Amino acid sequence: MTASKKLIPLSRPWIGADGPEIAALNEVFASRWLSTGPRTGEFEQRFSEYIGVKHAIAVSSCTAAIHLALHVSGVTAGDEVITTPYTYTATSEAIGYTGAKPVMVDINPVTLNLAPAKVESAITPRTRAILPVHIAGHPCDMATLTEISQQYNLALIDDAAHGLSSVYQQNMIGNIGDFSSFSFHATKNLAIGEGGMVTTNSDQLAERLRIIRHHGITKDAWQRQAQGDIWYYEVTEQGFKYNMSDIQATIGLCQLAKLEKQLAIRHNLAQIYLQELAGIPEIELPTEPLDGRHAWHLFIIQLDCENLNIDRSQFIREMRAENIECGVHYIPLHLFPYYQQTYGYQAGDFPIAESAYSRVVSLPMHPLLEVEDVYIVAEAIKRRIKSACLE
Ligand SMILES: Cc1ncc(COP(=O)(O)O)c(C=O)c1O
Repeated sequence: MTASKKLIPLSRPWIGADGPEIAALNEVFASRWLSTGPRTGEFEQRFSEYIGVKHAIAVSSCTAAIHLALHVSGVTAGDEVITTPYTYTATSEAIGYTGAKPVMVDINPVTLNLAPAKVESAITPRTRAILPVHIAGHPCDMATLTEISQQYNLALIDDAAHGLSSVYQQNMIGNIGDFSSFSFHATKNLAIGEGGMVTTNSDQLAERLRIIRHHGITKDAWQRQAQGDIWYYEVTEQGFKYNMSDIQATIGLCQLAKLEKQLAIRHNLAQIYLQELAGIPEIELPTEPLDGRHAWHLFIIQLDCENLNIDRSQFIREMRAENIECGVHYIPLHLFPYYQQTYGYQAGDFPIAESAYSRVVSLPMHPLLEVEDVYIVAEAIKRRIKSACLE
């Protein structure tokens, strides 16, 4: 097998000029109702049915979803929220929106998820919530996190940006914590471009979420139109401009219809990687949950760089030279100037997250990836690792 002639990208959305999204969008444009309206309602309904949760509230992003969930949980300035350093900045940024402090704890070296065993010792009288992230689509240990959150009366808000379709002990992620937040960013398993969803089983808080996602207004324009009461509404509290448009929801509905199909494609590609890269001591492969389902949003391997004559960054550069695009998920947040200057974090605070950061490589993984491309990627990795071995 030789190097790929065409670029094998890290990620691509399953969308195109000939997709069902175009016809559906034409209908929305013909209807001339573009902002939050009937399609958003339908998307919320179908999404909640897919997850098996009572309420799904569509918003503009996962960042907005996390912020709203924290807000309705009463998290405010001076509070603390326990979370992971091993995530995208949006997770902690949303905590910052409330004025609370993100209190980070280290991760499990295998799953790369927040380590529940470290959560309890980080709880103080100011702690209000726990915010874990299902990294790559591997579900977190929700049983232990639920137990801790109930024992200390904390909200459990999971960042499920990678966790759409993940299953934990027969329960879909999105139906376990008090709130779950999903992302429909262009690279996500359900790709709209931008968008998010917050799910909950609480009737009361769902109602409040619907109001505050749109300026704290009791009835949005579509509800007023539908009720023939065109102009009257009330503002009942300070809200946010976080609503989803019907244009986004239309794409979301089309993507949701093929979500399980694209998950099967990801699963198949992951099995080929796992098979082709097995038995190489210098490569640690991702694990599948013992009792659940991986969403395979990302396929992250870890290199044993101590036994190789190249480091992770050099490895990624060399893969790129072979037309294979790899990535790094994540640069731990406590290494960034903002988190160091604002909260006093420093290098060395979370050694497991830092060690993972020096070793991780995200391989191409998306529903448009060809099976033969996975073999090309695996072959290139094996070739490079073999020549880089120190013995
Ligand atoms: C783990 C994680 N959390 C949150 C987000 C934020 O999602 P959004 O861009 O929809 O706000 C992302 C996006 O990449 C993410 O990867």
